[in-house]
Amino acid sequence: MEQTQASAPGKIILFGEHAVVYGQPAIAAPVTQVRATVTIANSEPAGVRLIAPDLGKAYWLTEAQEHDPLARAVRLVEEATGSTLSQMTVTVRSTIPIASGLGSGAATAAALIRALTRHLSRQDLASDEQVCALAYEVEKIHHGTPSGIDNTVVAYEQPVYFVRQEPKNLIEPFAIAAPLHLLIADTGVRSATRHVVGDVRRQWQAERARFEEMFAACGRIAQAARTALEAGDVIQLGTLMDENQRWLEAMTVSSAELEKLIATARTAGALGAKLSGAGRGGNMIALVTPETQTSVRQALIKAGAFDVFASTVE
Ligand code: MEV
Repeated sequence: MEQTQASAPGKIILFGEHAVVYGQPAIAAPVTQVRATVTIANSEPAGVRLIAPDLGKAYWLTEAQEHDPLARAVRLVEEATGSTLSQMTVTVRSTIPIASGLGSGAATAAALIRALTRHLSRQDLASDEQVCALAYEVEKIHHGTPSGIDNTVVAYEQPVYFVRQEPKNLIEPFAIAAPLHLLIADTGVRSATRHVVGDVRRQWQAERARFEEMFAACGRIAQAARTALEAGDVIQLGTLMDENQRWLEAMTVSSAELEKLIATARTAGALGAKLSGAGRGGNMIALVTPETQTSVRQALIKAGAFDVFASTVE
């Protein structure tokens, strides 16, 4: 049986979530320890069978619900290739926790699009740029106004400096001078990006000037962070993470659970800490050193973190 497999990593937003939706620069990095993997296999029966064993789901493409992201990804590939797919089984597995700010939706879409275009021998559509563009269309299901940073970082699988702009987003994968040792800790609280992004939009509509000032401040932090990342200045990066967190709190996207873990990490010796992704739950990130990693991790677990894992960005 002919089979094709592709995968995409999870992601963290290092700097600039939310502000990035409004055109400010942001920085994201892949988290390679967690991945979405998609396998395409030729099969006998007509039609496309979609299987997501981790979610206990199996259904035919023709039966998929209107906003089903897997079906949307398959349809996009059909449109891009001008073909109608059949006699195929698409199996999606993922170790990326859902609704936790780690980009599970974007990674699943990117892996599926890459696997399918490769399976169809359309290498021209399996490039980072093409996968990124199609995955962006799927992201619109997860929330109406995605900036595009999540699908970009998982498609390129590199740290990326990103600005949402017309006619084409600025995408600058860049090199980090010294590895960043991060701890990623889950509050265990699930939070839908769509709701949080929508709520920030409502607040921005009600208080445009105040929110735009906050977004611009986050944009300046992301710019300064890029300089610090390229210089390997981890002390400065920690300070910038703390500053970014203060603005995210002012935007009301933080939460008591996130702030407890953030304060715990700082007290235990982290250089800086902030929420990552949409917020109101999901994950926080703490910048540590090889020396402080174990003690900060233990403190986070003691403070009730649902899960803590180490990730090095390089
Ligand atoms: C989500 O990972 C990042 C947000 O800025 C939303 C987006 O950029 O589309 C909250």
